[in-house]
Amino acid sequence: MKGRDLVALWDWTGADVSALLDLADALKRDPASYQGALAGRTAFLYFEKPSLRTRVTGEAGMVQLGGGAVTQTPEMGRIGVRETVADVARNLERWCDVIGMRTFSQALVEEMAARSRVPVINLLTDLLHPCQALADVMTIREAFGELGGRRLAYLGDGNNVAHSLLIAGALTGMSVTVIGPRGFEPNLRVFDRARELAEVNGARLAYTDDVAAVAGADAVYTDVWASMGQEKEAEARRRLFLPYQVDADLFGRAAAEAIFLHCLPAHRGEEVTDEVADHERSRIFDQAENRLHVIKALYVALIRGL
Ligand code: CP
Repeated sequence: MKGRDLVALWDWTGADVSALLDLADALKRDPASYQGALAGRTAFLYFEKPSLRTRVTGEAGMVQLGGGAVTQTPEMGRIGVRETVADVARNLERWCDVIGMRTFSQALVEEMAARSRVPVINLLTDLLHPCQALADVMTIREAFGELGGRRLAYLGDGNNVAHSLLIAGALTGMSVTVIGPRGFEPNLRVFDRARELAEVNGARLAYTDDVAAVAGADAVYTDVWASMGQEKEAEARRRLFLPYQVDADLFGRAAAEAIFLHCLPAHRGEEVTDEVADHERSRIFDQAENRLHVIKALYVALIRGL
């Protein structure tokens, strides 16, 4: 994997995902054996949107591997405005070993990856959130031992998190059903592309507005109803999404051993009740922890190789 990018998971294979998760598991089990693995290496991290988990794990992960991280926000200069993306790439590749980007535009991350000679990691765009999906499937694999044949029900907006879960499920043989109100379906281009991958890997992908589809799911997942940049729509969305709130009754319709997942931050009392967020089968903070192990695995795999 040395030198590759993570712009979208559909550029990866199921074997790539599996190998990355194995490395993330090893980093979680025995972090000491990777101390100094990236000594002298530098990550450049760029955030156009707010972040807690991605920024802290992106910086801390590189430090824990013996390297360092430099973070830039738009106040310090917006990529593609002050100078061309190509020129920024040709600077960064002289100083840094990996570039992580959280942007509104997926095209900006793709352009940086095309221009840069060092790996580029998508830290969230309006379209995709692949690092989150890797931490999610790592958490599900920890709970059930394997992903093939498992069923995930995602409730809410067909957003970047839903998109990356669809692709991750398609690559790993895990079936994913997105359940939400009409008008907020996943992007059709993403859905069709994920479905092509799912057919190869034996997963089933579906979309419905019927909450009954949560029945028997192994993992119940939700996200905020209005994502970053959609704050003005929050009130209107609240009314439309209320039937999809994950409360104890809805969670109880999933499989008996089902786990609850949320990428966080959570708006408790909206998309999820306290009772479910803090349920004994909630794995939301394991997911957050696994963001650290996943980004460390990505740094090692993309900079040094597996
Ligand atoms: N889940 C996630 O990406 O968290 P942050 O927005 O805090 O980075």
